Amino acid sequence: MKRVYFLLAFSAFGMNAYGQKTVDQKVAELLSKMTLEEKAGQMVQYSGFEYATGPQQSNSAAVLEEIKKGKVGSMLNVAGAEETKAFQKLAQQSRLKIPLLFGQDVIHGYRTTFPVNLGQAASWDLGLIERSERIAATEAAAYGIHWTFAPMVDVARDPRWGRVMEGSGEDTYLGTQIGLARIKGFQGRGLGSLDAVMACAKHFAAYGAAVGGRDYNSVDMSLRQLHEIYLPPFKAAADAGVATFMNSFNDINGIPATANQYIQRNLLKGKWNYKGFVVSDWGSIGEMIPHGYAKDANEAAQRAILGGSDMDMESRVYMTELPKLVKEGKVEAKWVDDAAGRILTKKFEMGLFDDPYRFSNEKRQKEQTNNPEHRKFGREFGSKSIVLLKNQGNILPLSKTVKTVALIGPFGKETVANHGFWSIAFKDDNQRIVSQYDGIKNQLDKNSTLLYAKGCNTDDQDKSMFAEAVETAKKADVVIMTLGEGHAMSGEAKSRSSIGFSGVQEDLLKEIAKTGKPIVLMINAGRPLIFNWAADNIPAITYNWWLGTEAGNSIADVLFGAVNPGGKLPMSFPRTEGQIPIYYNHYNTGRPAKTNTERNYVSAYIDLDNDPKFPFGYGLSYTDFKYSDMVLSSASLKGNQTLTVSVTVSNTGKYDGEEVVQLYIRDLFGKVVRPVKELKGFQKVAIKKGESRKVEFKLTPEDLKFFDDELNFDWESGEFDIMLGTNSQNVQTKRIIWTQ
Ligand code: BGC
Repeated sequence: MKRVYFLLAFSAFGMNAYGQKTVDQKVAELLSKMTLEEKAGQMVQYSGFEYATGPQQSNSAAVLEEIKKGKVGSMLNVAGAEETKAFQKLAQQSRLKIPLLFGQDVIHGYRTTFPVNLGQAASWDLGLIERSERIAATEAAAYGIHWTFAPMVDVARDPRWGRVMEGSGEDTYLGTQIGLARIKGFQGRGLGSLDAVMACAKHFAAYGAAVGGRDYNSVDMSLRQLHEIYLPPFKAAADAGVATFMNSFNDINGIPATANQYIQRNLLKGKWNYKGFVVSDWGSIGEMIPHGYAKDANEAAQRAILGGSDMDMESRVYMTELPKLVKEGKVEAKWVDDAAGRILTKKFEMGLFDDPYRFSNEKRQKEQTNNPEHRKFGREFGSKSIVLLKNQGNILPLSKTVKTVALIGPFGKETVANHGFWSIAFKDDNQRIVSQYDGIKNQLDKNSTLLYAKGCNTDDQDKSMFAEAVETAKKADVVIMTLGEGHAMSGEAKSRSSIGFSGVQEDLLKEIAKTGKPIVLMINAGRPLIFNWAADNIPAITYNWWLGTEAGNSIADVLFGAVNPGGKLPMSFPRTEGQIPIYYNHYNTGRPAKTNTERNYVSAYIDLDNDPKFPFGYGLSYTDFKYSDMVLSSASLKGNQTLTVSVTVSNTGKYDGEEVVQLYIRDLFGKVVRPVKELKGFQKVAIKKGESRKVEFKLTPEDLKFFDDELNFDWESGEFDIMLGTNSQNVQTKRIIWTQ
């Protein structure tokens, strides 16, 4: 079916007024016909009126009039075949009939939602991640959406920052690979296909490093760190042809990203030669006034365009100010032409000049609503995102014939909340969302009993439900506790200063533990939480994140062993907030602690161990994996040779399982100091019980490169530790010499 649409769409190409010209020629021709106001109009994006994803300045009637006058280039938060058609019809009343672009935050699924992005990252499964975005794109495109504001490729080392849920965690390499998989998934066979949406690498740049983890806060960092840690996922996205970029709310070393010439003009559009367009973040052009970087709307618009922002999302300053700025000679007309040209290019590439309504199709929309194949995939993806943190005494997997199971905790019967933050799909039907209770109930044997008690709310001090929960636990053979943070406690503007279980959840857990019943604790969250008491006292713990539409089924698949969990943490889990920022790839310092508990005149806290509670890359399985000694193809290499690192991993336990084999390196001495470990490769391998797999990695000097004190990106001769293992702490190491 899809194939037919694709062919039809392309057979229509070339039939418009522009004939067989190249896209560049078409854009030039169109620009030559446009007034300055019309060009500025292309650079304007408004939000629809039904819901907003930021502080909206509503004036719906005026917006509709502006669309008719060709003064709007794009809308966000307008979706659905019918609604997009209605808006597009208004644009077709304008003088040049330039179609609108419809953007939307399709962040972790659209109609079918998948785990929150950090949970997806915990799968370390690039194939699943790409497939999930393929599905999201297919569903969203069928709802008339042309463009998603994703992937967010911000590296984040601070779990207080609520938006860690939207990214891939603390590591640059992992985050880059995941970002690329997402772009591939969204853009599919290429812009113009009816099942592809334009992707958007955001937030450019360094948004994830907000001081104190407080959203929208300033970023202050060395250029070297910016280049080494925060920019690589963006550079890779640009090289991979991501259609658009979005800049960020923060200032970087005193200059707002939105007007940052170094970031957007020198790097992105200069050195990286990026040809797509840059949209501002919501209102971020206007916010340069409170930042103290522009005195009024006029100056904000001037700084933003000179700084490389092509489209103004909801600041409402480009429309009024750009024409004035050009007329007054404060902005050269060529910058407006360049920005409008970049936007028009995408509209041509999407085929919108051939048929502005080609994405808005009721029939396709219906087909992509409640798609069972997508749900099936969501169930698998959910189960593969779960991380098993502890399984003392092999409590898990549970037998389906346990006589009485008690599910206790505020998340047991949640439904819509399973979507997690950032799920903006149309809420116009009752797409079934599987609760944990239903998922477990469906898999328990018919002769078994599932009891339930809520126990408490997520965020208040009410203990009145404790007694009932304790009584319920007493009747059970095993208790499944479901605790965590509410789905809207992580996400945009959801920074937290303390990241434990909120409200009285931990007190409830302690009360239930007093019953002496075996407990499996499931933690639902969009970020790493701190839960030391539980980690030390509860025998089995799974980290579930928020898993999306099929959450309950995914969870039950893991609890009862249909799926053996293989997720690994994409962020370090701290012991206390005082350790934050905490990340595995830190420098050694001049006084490193030799042990975790060493305190005296070493780089440590006097009141805290150095290591995290759970390290980056950590996650258990129901089975056991044994690593053979790793083998290096050579201990001394020269120039552009390739080092092969191999290891045999054996599944010695009782279940088939998946293991993520991780490869780290350390450059022992450098022109600038190098991290104690850097992830350079990983492979997720499925190994049947009793079987072994040889896993092989290749390293070349490309993998040894780093930014030196003058921002040269190169490698140096020297000694390197090659480390391979099951998480960032548990590795085997061999040393090599590599000379130029
Ligand atoms: C967020 C962006 C998002 C935009 C549009 C902003 O507040 O920072 O990530 O794409 O709103 O919803």
